[in-house]
Amino acid sequence: MLNGKTAVITGASSGIGKAIALKLAENGANVAIIYYPGNEDAAQDVCRQAGEFGVKADIYKCNVARFEESKGVCEKIVADFGSVDILVNNAGITRDGLLLRMSETDFDDVIDVNLKGAFNFIRHLSRYIIKSPAGRIINIASVSGIMGNAGQANYSAAKAGMIGLTKTVAKEFAGRNVACNAIAPGFISTDMTAALPQAVREKAVNAIPLKRMGTTDEVANTALFLASDLSSYITGEVIKVDGGLCM
Ligand code: NAI
Repeated sequence: MLNGKTAVITGASSGIGKAIALKLAENGANVAIIYYPGNEDAAQDVCRQAGEFGVKADIYKCNVARFEESKGVCEKIVADFGSVDILVNNAGITRDGLLLRMSETDFDDVIDVNLKGAFNFIRHLSRYIIKSPAGRIINIASVSGIMGNAGQANYSAAKAGMIGLTKTVAKEFAGRNVACNAIAPGFISTDMTAALPQAVREKAVNAIPLKRMGTTDEVANTALFLASDLSSYITGEVIKVDGGLCM
């Protein structure tokens, strides 16, 4: 489905990013796996698993929040792979807390990784993606960015920002055959949600019409759809993968 294409996935050493990297590789894409410093072993493992699908795979250490560092990594990827067709901005963090007590650092850090990190990679890779016959940019937002969530002023603002970014990029690059869409996951079983207290998780599952958390594979399937020609007439869209939580 994606044979010969090159995909760049940020935050790909774990969780949703890992599932997306492996799903795209399984479907023929070469993958550049971006990982946060300290996660090299996990990234190597994803790289090895991707390679088993017979595609080219490599790992790149990067703090996506840093503009110049991201630029250097993007240039290295283009030098190594020759071209880039698909970018998945998945790297993200939470620093939850009620607004009355939220520190400036916790606000800034979450905006810097989730929102500015996506901007950085789009800014540095779009000049190459527009050369692809069917470029794709996929931003991993969240239902928190659509409906807000108590305790996540920083995160919901960052994810809402990613949705605005998605729509603007979709408009700016539509004429260059690049589609830009967002995925808004609900509660997905990963390290991020494992960190939540048990009571919070139980309450969340009760509020989900499908009465269960989602899997990383279910998000990856949506990313595959958006990365492929199956979604050729979709751009500027936000697809919720949330078991009906936000409707
Ligand atoms: P995760 O914690 O397993 O994955 C996040 C990845 O981003 C990690 O690999 C981490 O090392 C990386 N990362 C963090 N800061 C980084 C930085 N500065 N530079 C580069 N990489 C960095 O969690 P999960 O759940 O897989 O999250 C993936 C994305 O999905 C995030 O954007 C998250 O906000 C989003 N999401 C997750 C939901 C869930 O229920 N798990 C729900 C909605 C959205």
